[in-house]
Amino acid sequence: MSITKESELVGMQRVSEVVGTTLKLMREYAKAGISTKELDEYGANILKSFGAKSAPYETYGFPGYTCISVNNEVAHGIPSENKILKEGDLINVDVSAELNGFWSDNGGSFVIGEDINNHQPLVDASKNILRKAINHIKGGVKIADIGYIIETEAKKSGFKVIKNLAGHGVGGSLHEKPENILNYKVRSNRERFRKNTTVAIETFISTNSTIAVELNDQWTLVGNKGGYVTQHEHTILVTDNSPVILTASNEIWN
Ligand code: CO
Ligand code: CO
Repeated sequence: MSITKESELVGMQRVSEVVGTTLKLMREYAKAGISTKELDEYGANILKSFGAKSAPYETYGFPGYTCISVNNEVAHGIPSENKILKEGDLINVDVSAELNGFWSDNGGSFVIGEDINNHQPLVDASKNILRKAINHIKGGVKIADIGYIIETEAKKSGFKVIKNLAGHGVGGSLHEKPENILNYKVRSNRERFRKNTTVAIETFISTNSTIAVELNDQWTLVGNKGGYVTQHEHTILVTDNSPVILTASNEIWN
C-alpha cells in the first residue's frame, strides 16, 4: 500500500510488530514431539491476544491460523495433529494477519533441534539472500533487478529458486500490487519499487525443484522435483534509502 499519512505508517508498524512477534514466539515454541496443530494453536492465541486476525483463515478460508510446512512441503502446509515434529525436521512458519484494517506478512524456515539432516546451509542461504535483496530495494529500483539478485545469489550458493511463488504488495490487504515480486528476472517486467509503499519480500530457495505444485488437499505446495525449499519473508517500507524492516521483531536475521 501507499503510505500517505502518519496514521497509516503507525497501523503498518503495529500489525507488523504483531506478526513478527508471533513468528518469533512460534519459532521458540517449536520442538520435537509437538504437532503442527499445537504450534498453530499457540500462534493463533498470540494473534488473538493482540486483537489481530489471521489473514489466511479470514480471507482465504485456510484450515489453520498460520501456514506450517514441514520437510518436503514448500508452502501453505496445513497444521495437523497428525504431523508430529521430529529432531532435524526442516520447518517453515508463515504468519500473516490483519489489525485495525492493516495487513502484514512474514515467514521463516528453520531446523527443529539438532541439524542431523544438514538443512542449515539451505536455511542460511535463504536468510542471507533475503538480506541482500532487501538491501538493494529503494524507490525507483526495478522489481526485475531484485529477482536477478535472488536467483544469482541462489546459484552462487549451489541452489535454485521456485519460479511460481513471489513476494507482493501488502498493507490494505494481504496480496496487492505489485503482485509478482519473483525470485528471478523477468526481462519484460519494467515495474519499479515506489517510495513510501509497503511490500512483502520473500525468498523461495530450493535444492531440486523450480515449480511449486499443489497437492490434492487444495492447499499444500510441494516441489515438482522434490527436495527441500526454504523461505524467509519480511514486510518492509520502501524509502529513498535503506528500507524500514517493519517485521524486524521476528528476528529471523538474528
Ligand atoms: Co507470508
Ligand atoms: Co507473502
